[in-house]
Amino acid sequence: MKSKIVIGNWKMNKDFEEAEDLISSIEEKLENYNLATEVVLCPPMVYAELVTDHASQDDSQFYAGVQNVSEYENGAYTGEVSAEMLASMDVSFCIIGHSERRKYFGETNAIVLKKMLRLLANDIVPVMCCGESLDERKAGKHFDVVRQQIEETLYTLTPEQMENVMIAYEPIWAIGTGETATPAQAQEMLAYIRSLIEKKFGTQMAVDTYILYGGSCNAKNALELFSQPDVDGGLIGGASLKPDDFIKIIEAAETVVKDN
Ligand code: PGA
Repeated sequence: MKSKIVIGNWKMNKDFEEAEDLISSIEEKLENYNLATEVVLCPPMVYAELVTDHASQDDSQFYAGVQNVSEYENGAYTGEVSAEMLASMDVSFCIIGHSERRKYFGETNAIVLKKMLRLLANDIVPVMCCGESLDERKAGKHFDVVRQQIEETLYTLTPEQMENVMIAYEPIWAIGTGETATPAQAQEMLAYIRSLIEKKFGTQMAVDTYILYGGSCNAKNALELFSQPDVDGGLIGGASLKPDDFIKIIEAAETVVKDN
């Protein structure tokens, strides 16, 4: 069985000292583990160096990620951070297309694709989020919405590019609401996404592609979610800010891999 991936998305939380404490605390708690699970911490951009400093240590058990990147290459784009800059700081992962960025910052599929290509050109793994709203689910359109998000982005990639992309399915109605998709709902959509990858890129790519679930994943429900055959791990928001909960989620991932 392939290893699981657990990604912490801190969103816009923590001041500098709190960020230092959170990293140290996670680091301390992971000290005694020899993890099969890949753990990624995605702090606010301004703390990226803090995480890359820790992640670059020999015995580090996690990778450094961020939550956003510019769609532009470099130059006069005040306030933006380029993929090249992130690569120069050894950032390994970047979340793109998160529903909060789509909703509050107008990130369309076309912009998500531009960002993805910048990241791939700089050897940073894009973690591409997709997912439907509650209205779309109620109207039975959830498969169509997700298919369109995948087709307008991932379907334009070459197989070589696709090999380096991860997908996170995050139903918008489950993000930060405490309302998790049931394991069956998560499995159903992740299996569907995998079938879309298979249709375009073939069976091996579909098997190899990491597809994560996100949306109120926590210490209590992680084990059941991660036990679903198509769930390769989780994108964790709120619970990644609490070291004990985050570790329990990582332990859930470890348990599933070891039991199989
Ligand atoms: P949540 O957020 O775990 O707080 O629901 C997940 C995410 O938005 O990545």
